Amino acid sequence: MKHLIIYYSYTNHTRELVKRLQNKFSYDVFEIEPVIPYSNNYQQVVDEAERDVPRGVQPEIKPFTLDLEQYDVIILATPVWWYTFASPVNTFLHQYRLQGKIIIPLVTNGGWIGHTIEDIERLSGGTIQNPISVKFDGDRLVDEALFEKWMERVGESK
Ligand SMILES: Cc1cc2nc3c(=O)[nH]c(=O)nc-3n(C[C@H](O)[C@H](O)[C@H](O)COP(=O)(O)O)c2cc1C
Repeated sequence: MKHLIIYYSYTNHTRELVKRLQNKFSYDVFEIEPVIPYSNNYQQVVDEAERDVPRGVQPEIKPFTLDLEQYDVIILATPVWWYTFASPVNTFLHQYRLQGKIIIPLVTNGGWIGHTIEDIERLSGGTIQNPISVKFDGDRLVDEALFEKWMERVGESK
């Protein structure tokens, strides 16, 4: 089964984990990028998202350039923003059809994952497998052992 990692990352936590996964398994990767980058001011982004996320705002993103038809398994990696996936991922899930795919959510967060995985399931229409949520304390991955184990499981889903 062919795997593709699709991810968004604002402060690089998710990007770091995606890099580790990609180094291990050489999966193809696509980064979701907003057309207008978010401010470097973390608190400003947190405050904006507090307004935007509950309203389901869909910031414009750069186009997806790969052929989804080629892939059976999508590893969808996102930070949690206000109890769900980050807004650029919201745009992606509205624009591209993942129905019929196996979806493995990789969700990074600060301890409050909310309804992120349920929302991915509902909006993607795919079949969720092996979801993982891992907590960061500052820039430190708290759930290191959990993440390592999860990578092994993902690798077994050939
Ligand atoms: C706008 C915003 C909203 C956030 N909301 C939550 C939240 O609801 N729950 C939580 O546990 N962490 C929340 N966080 C923390 C991030 O989910 C966490 O730091 C994540 O690992 C960041 O991933 P990234 O570095 O790939 O962007 C939020 C961070 C930002 C920037």
